[in-house]
This record gives sequence, C-alpha cells and structure tokens, in this order.
Amino acid sequence: MGLSVIILAAGEGKRMRSSRPKVLHTLAGLPLLEHVSREAAALQPQAVYCVVGHGGEQVRDALSDLPVTWVEQAEQLGTGHAVQQVLPHLAPKDTVLILYGDVPLIRAATLSRLIAVADEDHLALMTAQLADPSGYGRILRDDGGRVTAIVEEKDAAVEQRAITEINTGIMACRGAHLEAWLHELDNANAQGEYYLTDVIGRAADEGMEIVTIAPDSVEEISGVNNRAQLAALERAYQRARAERLMSGGVTLRDPGRFDLRGELQTGIDCEIDVDCVIEGSVILGEGVRIGPYCVVRNARIGDGVEIKAHCVIEDAEIGADSRIGPFARIRPETELASGVHIGNFVEIKKSRVGTHSKINHLSYVGDTTVGRDVNVGAGTITCNYDGANKHRTEIGDGAFIGSDTQLVAPVKVGAGSTIGAGSTITRDTPPNELTLSRVPQQTRTGWKRPVKKR
Ligand code: UD1
Ligand code: CA
Repeated sequence: MGLSVIILAAGEGKRMRSSRPKVLHTLAGLPLLEHVSREAAALQPQAVYCVVGHGGEQVRDALSDLPVTWVEQAEQLGTGHAVQQVLPHLAPKDTVLILYGDVPLIRAATLSRLIAVADEDHLALMTAQLADPSGYGRILRDDGGRVTAIVEEKDAAVEQRAITEINTGIMACRGAHLEAWLHELDNANAQGEYYLTDVIGRAADEGMEIVTIAPDSVEEISGVNNRAQLAALERAYQRARAERLMSGGVTLRDPGRFDLRGELQTGIDCEIDVDCVIEGSVILGEGVRIGPYCVVRNARIGDGVEIKAHCVIEDAEIGADSRIGPFARIRPETELASGVHIGNFVEIKKSRVGTHSKINHLSYVGDTTVGRDVNVGAGTITCNYDGANKHRTEIGDGAFIGSDTQLVAPVKVGAGSTIGAGSTITRDTPPNELTLSRVPQQTRTGWKRPVKKR
C-alpha cells in the first residue's frame, strides 16, 4: 500500500508583503516549496500533490521541474477545503501525509517516524510543546491523556489558550478515513473556514487513536509567515549545515557567518574564513584555505589551494596548490592547472592556464589558452572582443609578457617569447625571441612648460 503526500501551498502569504508567492521565496538559495518537495521525495511516495491557488501559475511556472502533481484550489476556503481538492486523486488504502509549502525545514527522517504509526486504527499527528504557543491550534486531551480535538486559537476559550501543546498541521492517516472526515466538515467557526484540524475531533469521536509524534527540533515545524521568520529559519538552517561541516573536519572561522546555498564537498583540513558564500555544487580538496568575503559557485578546487580575501569564483576548476587573489574574479569555463598564481584585480574568463603560470596584477585574460610557466605582467589585457565576435589568444609555454601589454586577438604568442612592456601585439610572435611594439623614446632638450597668460 502506497504513500501519497499532499503539500498545501495555496495561501496568500500576505505578511510577506511581496508580489512573489510566499513559497517561491528562497531559503539557502532554494524556494521554500522545493525544500518540502525534496523531503517528500525522499520518502519515495507514489505521488506528491501540491495544492496551489494564490499566485498558482507563478508557482507552477517557476517550479515546473518539481516531481509533483499540481492541484488547483481556486478559492482559499481553508486547509480542510485545500485537502478536499486532492481527494479525487487518492486511493482509499493509501497512507496520506499532509505537509505545508511554507514549513521548509521538515525532515524526511521525522516524517518517516510519523508515517510509521499511521494505520487503520491510528491517525498520526505531529505536535510540539512551545513556550509561546500563540497563533497555533491547541491540542485538547481528555483526562486519560488521549487527544480529543484541536481548537484554533481564534476559536479557543481562555483556558484552552493556556495549552502549550500545539498543532504543527503535519499529519498522516488512511485515505479512506480522510475522505470520510473531510466530507463532514463545515465552516461554522471564527474564521468561516473549512478547517483541516476538525478531522482530528471526528477521528477521536469515531474511536480512532490519535498518536502524537514530536519533531526533533522546533525549526522542523516552524512556518514562514513573514521575512523575519524566513531570516530566522535561514540562520537555523545555516547553523546546522555549519555544524555538519565542522564535524566533518572543516574549520569555519565563524559558523555564524557562513552561508551554504547548495552542496559542499570537502577534503580534510579545509579552512573557511568569515562571510563566505558557497553556492551550487562546490568541491574542495584537502587543505583548501578560503579567505574572508569570498563567493564560490559551482567550482572544483584542488588540494592545497589558497583563495585569499574577496575573490569571486564561478563555474571554474582550480588546480592543486594554486593561489588566487585577493580581489580576483574567476569567471565561467576557466580551468587553472596546478600551482597557478592569480593575483589582485585579475579577471579570467573562459580560459585555460597551464601549470605554474602567473598572472599576478591587474589583468584581463579572456578566451585564452596560457601554457605552462608563463609570466603575464601587470596590466596585461587580452583584447578578445571586436565589437561583434570573440577571438582567442594563445600564449605558448614559458612566454614572458611585459607589463601593460595588449594582446589583440586572434593572436598567438610563441613559446619562450618575450614581449616588451607596453606593447600592442597584433600579429603572432615567434618563439624564443623578443618582440615589442613601442614608440621610440625621445627627449626634447631645452623644452619649457607653457605658463599661464596674465
Ligand atoms: C494552521 C492550523 C493550525 C496550526 C498551524 C500550524 C488549520 C485550520 N489550522 O493554521 O492548527 O497550528 O496551521 O502552522 O489548519 N492553505 C491552503 N489553502 C487554504 C488555506 C491554507 O493551501 O485555503 C495553506 C497555506 O498556504 C499554508 C497552510 O495551508 O501553507 C496553513 O494555512 P494557514 O492559513 O497559515 O493556517 P494557520 O492559521 O497558520
Ligand atoms: Ca500559518
């Protein structure tokens, strides 16, 4: 018998004060709904139904790749009404799990514990003890401690509001039961809504046992209603990721100032200084050191590499023992071999740089193949763009490019070539020779500076 998951995401999310639907706001770089969808998928359900309404089209367009079946709730008449929209898709024997698009940090492991206790005679409900339960539905229990119902805060009597066990909204039960209980719902309550929570009372009345499960942490069941809560959950999530990296052998100078928006694989003894952002898929070898204020996105960084402060690296591969920065920008499709030095204010784009080559100061190298043991002097620019097309530059092994050189592509610098400082190179240069293009220096003896007329 299968598992069907329902994710509710039709609400408006007014308190976000946003033109973007709430579930598209991101946490750790990923839309809230995608976090939930990933955890749901980890349970290997036979289907995931996502109920959308407010901004539904925007949500579907933005997340068209999610492995979910979209179900429309045209009018938002309450959580119970939202689940009703999915009923035609459900089989009676299925276990149905209900999740929320704006409760992003729920974990599959916790959900497995919940699903495990849901069967013919048991409804599984996730509840939590909160010091401040305000805003949540409260769990009502009888003298024997059995759950009898949920009362929404707006419908609760004063003494009920004092209850600190709250409804997370997350529950699991048999499809057939859910269907029967949902058909009996009405909206005779303070908000005039069809409450999903009312099924708990029905189930209890019918003699079902409501088994409650607690989450491992309160972040797992925390919803995002406004941007402050979003920021708080982001920090909690980042803290957890940071802890995991540290226990895996990474030194984080300040785990409170580290952001991972994707996946980071690390060898042992990597060190990451403060305020770095790691995005996409990043692989660090052993003993990689990353200085403060760096952004590294989709990159593979070899063993022993040092990235100094304020570098931005994107879609690139950096060979072992290379040294980058400070203030370097490594752009997409760049491959640096081992032992390469890239210094301050250097931009490299779509280029390959050979072993032990150095580009240390103030340069732009784009669409270029640089050989091994090349020294590119300060202020060297590859002029790769003629206004319409990009052209390639090739620099042979062992070449020495003098400072302030322009290499006007397409052009090849021969292996072992030396280029005189200040040259504009427009034609290929022969190997092992000195080439320079330089206006001869002159001195005008006795020349006087002009003086201002009175
Ligand atoms: C709900 C629960 C409450 C629980 C709380 C936990 C009900 C009646 N109350 O209250 O007991 O403590 O969640 O956070 O269920 N949604 C729809 N369609 C609708 C209405 C809501 O898809 O017509 C979705 C929303 O997008 C949201 C979720 O359901 O993701 C919860 O709705 P919300 O209005 O926030 O319910 P709460 O009042 O917070
Ligand atoms: Ca809510």
